[in-house]
Amino acid sequence: MTLFGSSTQQVPQARCIPQHIAIIMDGNGRWAKKRFLPRVAGHRQGVIAVRGIIKACAEFGVDYLTLFAFSSENWRRPKEEVNLLMELFVRSLEAEIEAMHENNIRLKVIGDISSFSTRLQNLIREGVDQTQNNLGLTLTIAANYGGRWDIMQAIKQIADVNPQALVELNEADLLPYLAMHYAPEPDLFIRTGGEMRISNFLLWQLAYTELYFTPILWPDFDKAALSAAIDSYQGRERRFGRTSEQLEENV
Ligand code: IPE
Ligand code: IPE
Ligand code: MG
Repeated sequence: MTLFGSSTQQVPQARCIPQHIAIIMDGNGRWAKKRFLPRVAGHRQGVIAVRGIIKACAEFGVDYLTLFAFSSENWRRPKEEVNLLMELFVRSLEAEIEAMHENNIRLKVIGDISSFSTRLQNLIREGVDQTQNNLGLTLTIAANYGGRWDIMQAIKQIADVNPQALVELNEADLLPYLAMHYAPEPDLFIRTGGEMRISNFLLWQLAYTELYFTPILWPDFDKAALSAAIDSYQGRERRFGRTSEQLEENV
């Protein structure tokens, strides 16, 4: 298993194009409301935006794209909306898997999928299996995911395997058990929809990620909007704890 380093343990290499972009796709409901449509219309339009952003990321040369599709707290929504979101997830997987495979996309899903319907769980497993050897963009869908859940499940796995290891646990020991152990930490985090919070997304992995918030509602987030986010990222100075002077001297 390839293990990526931890930004708090060693200084990662900064690149021009973010290697990993993680997005909270927010604002579907408001997009629909503005048009006097039901919230589900916003979620449907959101799926179309997902397609565009996957394509744009592949074109820009991004290696990992992680999308927050359903949080562990989204179960608190009205039952009808939760059901519609699940249905949309099922239909999108059914419709998109072949095209993803043809485009060399490797699909991953992080989160506790055991609470999903058997049909959805099977579709997820099939999609992940079918695309596992693809070498293009790694697309991760965070579904029933929560950052705290992730850290807890990692610790529980270690406790199961070797409880004694918990006594002197360090960061490097934890990494292989985190849900996204197969990816480097995100370079750029984007949240659409105007809220400036993390909403229990990748708590561990976002330690040194550049954060970008935009009022654009998710269904309106297109290639140009993504490009603006990458421009902003390129203007940042990623110090990882060091001083500006150290960066100039390249130490
Ligand atoms: C994001 O859009 C999609 C999910 C959380 C599934 P919202 O549904 O949160 O849209 P707003 O925030 O109500 O506009
Ligand atoms: C975060 O959006 C989760 C997803 C986009 C899947 P929410 O709309 O659920 O977040 P809050 O409730 O505004 O923090
Ligand atoms: Mg929201």
